[in-house]
Amino acid sequence: MKPTQAVCFYDASPDASDLRREVLAGLSAKPKAIPPKFFYDQRGSELFDAICQLPEYYQTRTEMGILRRCVNELAEHIGPECLVVELGSGASKKVRLLLSELRPSGYLGIDISKEFLLASTHRLANDYPWLEVHAACIDFSHHLDVPRCEAFGPRLAFFPGSSIGNFEPGEAVRLLSRVAELVGPQGHLLIGVDLKKDIRLLNAAYNDAKGITAAFNRNLLQRIQSELDSDFDAASFEHYAFFNPIEGRIEMHLVSSRAQSIRIEDRLFEFHAGETIHTENSYKYTIAEFGRLAQQAGFAQDVVWTDPARMFSVQLLRAL
Ligand SMILES: C[S@@+](CC[C@H](N)C(=O)[O-])C[C@H]1O[C@@H](n2cnc3c(N)ncnc32)[C@H](O)[C@@H]1O
Repeated sequence: MKPTQAVCFYDASPDASDLRREVLAGLSAKPKAIPPKFFYDQRGSELFDAICQLPEYYQTRTEMGILRRCVNELAEHIGPECLVVELGSGASKKVRLLLSELRPSGYLGIDISKEFLLASTHRLANDYPWLEVHAACIDFSHHLDVPRCEAFGPRLAFFPGSSIGNFEPGEAVRLLSRVAELVGPQGHLLIGVDLKKDIRLLNAAYNDAKGITAAFNRNLLQRIQSELDSDFDAASFEHYAFFNPIEGRIEMHLVSSRAQSIRIEDRLFEFHAGETIHTENSYKYTIAEFGRLAQQAGFAQDVVWTDPARMFSVQLLRAL
């Protein structure tokens, strides 16, 4: 059997009590909402990986095309021997496009989905034996206290997938401020940011013909059923996603197809027919809007790369 490379693992994974607390609070709120980070159990991570292959989901292939084209210029800005810290590293596929040119000495993948993170970082360590690979299972919406990796050179945070769009703009500024602290003055953040565009393209990307995004959305209910004591019919909730032009975001919801009450632990939650659980936002920005947001978090927007159709951007931000 092929020997496996070691991955230094730091485990601060949220436990079932976090899921319980946030689900009960979210369903007690008006309107009802559950944070999107709970999509990502093992099955949720696998479904997201499947979404990335869909023809409607332009984000992944467009961002990967930009990364392939910008990597030489990026390497000139950053220099060798840096530490790459990837937020929401998932399958750790996009970072592979950077490694040969960038030649970092260390990689730290951060993700909330523990088993998926461990499998992805082990694969990365095996495929790049010259790279020191670390993994940290933490919820970065709460903190970014990562293990000390002092041995490395400058820090480059990497936050692809437009995951920053899942945060309300104020929360996004707070998260990026923590990233600015993590990389230190003159450290960098390479971030994927989805851009405002034709509403039909946006709506199609979150309503794919094969129904994978619907399965991903519904998996949240299946996760609640498997991890919390509950009694409800997950099939009575439908996937619903649309672009809200006033807020500048895709909204994803689970719609109750009938009036019903659902039990989770010792609590009952009433739904009227058509009432929704708001499960995700995905904010879309113009380059100027995102530059202002980055500035509020203490970053300068040094370089912005886009695809020819300006669907997506990869931005190199520098901490001031
Ligand atoms: C939209 S996916 C992006 C995955 C990958 N980076 C890409 O670009 O294809 C978001 C990733 O962030 C992780 N994630 C979501 N919320 C998180 C949180 N609060 N803390 C840590 N990881 C989180 C998920 O598990 C998932 O792997």
